[in-house]
Amino acid sequence: MTGKRLYIETMGCQMNVLDSELVVGQLRQRGYVRTDEMADADVVLINTCSVRQHAEDKALSRLGSLKKPKSRRADMIVGVIGCMAERDPDGITRKMPHVDLVCGPGELNRIPAMIEEIQTTRRRALALSDDHSRKSTPLQRATEYDSVESLDSSRTYGIEGTVLQAYVRVQRGCDKFCTFCVVPFTRGPERSRPPGAIIDEVRMLVDRGAKEITLLGQTVNSYMHQEDGRAVPFSELLYRMNGVAGLERIRFVTSYAGDFGDDVLAAMRDLDKVCEYLHLPAQSGSDAVLRRMRRQYSVRQYVELVDRAREMVPGITLASDFIVGFCGETDAEFAESLSLVERCRFKNIFVFKYSERPGTVAAKRSNDDVPEEVKRSRNQELLRLQERISLETNRGLLGQTVEVLVEGPSKRAQKAQISEQERGDEVGMAETGQFVGRTRTDRIVVFPVETGMVGRLVDIRVIGATALTLHGRMVDGVVADESVGQLSPVAAIAG
Ligand code: SAH
Ligand code: F3S
Repeated sequence: MTGKRLYIETMGCQMNVLDSELVVGQLRQRGYVRTDEMADADVVLINTCSVRQHAEDKALSRLGSLKKPKSRRADMIVGVIGCMAERDPDGITRKMPHVDLVCGPGELNRIPAMIEEIQTTRRRALALSDDHSRKSTPLQRATEYDSVESLDSSRTYGIEGTVLQAYVRVQRGCDKFCTFCVVPFTRGPERSRPPGAIIDEVRMLVDRGAKEITLLGQTVNSYMHQEDGRAVPFSELLYRMNGVAGLERIRFVTSYAGDFGDDVLAAMRDLDKVCEYLHLPAQSGSDAVLRRMRRQYSVRQYVELVDRAREMVPGITLASDFIVGFCGETDAEFAESLSLVERCRFKNIFVFKYSERPGTVAAKRSNDDVPEEVKRSRNQELLRLQERISLETNRGLLGQTVEVLVEGPSKRAQKAQISEQERGDEVGMAETGQFVGRTRTDRIVVFPVETGMVGRLVDIRVIGATALTLHGRMVDGVVADESVGQLSPVAAIAG
């Protein structure tokens, strides 16, 4: 099958980005090459997201657009992988009968075999974990765990070329069962990977040029792995990673406010490679709403954690997620979310209109009763407030020098951020000759440097700021040019 063309499209979160990379690696080993032309591909895979209805609708529309090319080329294989495949396999095959392959996120290591099977039998292949209830036994968990670990460890063979930034999974699934969320149903119970496997993967990536590694988990801070009869917590994993020579920066997402220990904050303070940034979704600023969401922390506990983080980790920035219009959310309850945003002064927030997900506790027991236009206006109000705060805090950085990892030309970086844009974020202005990078605190900086600087850590003086982006010039650099006259209009507003 040498030379077969693979087209893969990734929707949703960073976990999906990593999953797609691993699937590509496995297929590359079997002779596949990637193509950007969907209609020409021999295998088309859509890696889907189920967190909101909107994401599922988008996947369905992509699949719909494949009907024609597929009808012209019977040998084309169309696959749906990821969360939507796991959540609604029957719905997909009913609505999209031209789909050949349906594979949940816990079974992705089976894709190469599934493709071969389809090529021989010309029959549809399905692989689902289908065991994502609280009822699963430890043995079932272990079995599932073993099979997916082989996907992560397959990465060693599948990577091509060098990497600058990489994701590494530390944990699969989630046990929190927030009442609105579909993730525990699609990604199954929480399992932590062995620290040794994680460190080996980090070393392998650093050998291939990785300077920055982001550890991924739904609730990373609840990471815990039994090793030689003792438990290894997340903070210890950070200590071990900090010892990997050649690695410059360590990040991790997403943190869960319910069980966030001071040991992780201490590690952030004491370890030079761990960046001073926390993505800590709050979801709501109202205790009543948090209870209905079953978030397992109160607003007071959340605020205390934010204060403690700022006290223990100087210069830390925080980002958060909010859901507006959750079942029964009153004006007064929404106002409490506004107060929390005002109080915490996040770097940025992601705001989502509540979307009812089939099978969740909220879908079964509560009414999705906040009208769409109320959700929309609350969404805008919260974002407007945050924009004001982001602009104020970014302007506070004018004149300061920040350490930036040069990621690449700003246009290319912009493209790489499409999945984040879907979550509401935006990357800085695309300007020719401009490069983009991030501070340790995850702020986006646009600046002119020479191409050879990609992958290097540079000191940048901040000379312009918008709510989303900082603009700067390299300190002591040949391209340093302080003339404000050359700034883009956006940067000049802030100047
Ligand atoms: N721990 C995970 C959560 C995954 S979902 C992480 O942050 O990576 C990501 C975000 O989507 C959540 O924090 C929540 O704000 C939002 N979300 C989850 N389910 C939702 C729903 N049913 N409707 C609207 N937003 C939702
Ligand atoms: Fe979802 Fe809550 Fe887990 S938001 S991923 S159930 S922590």
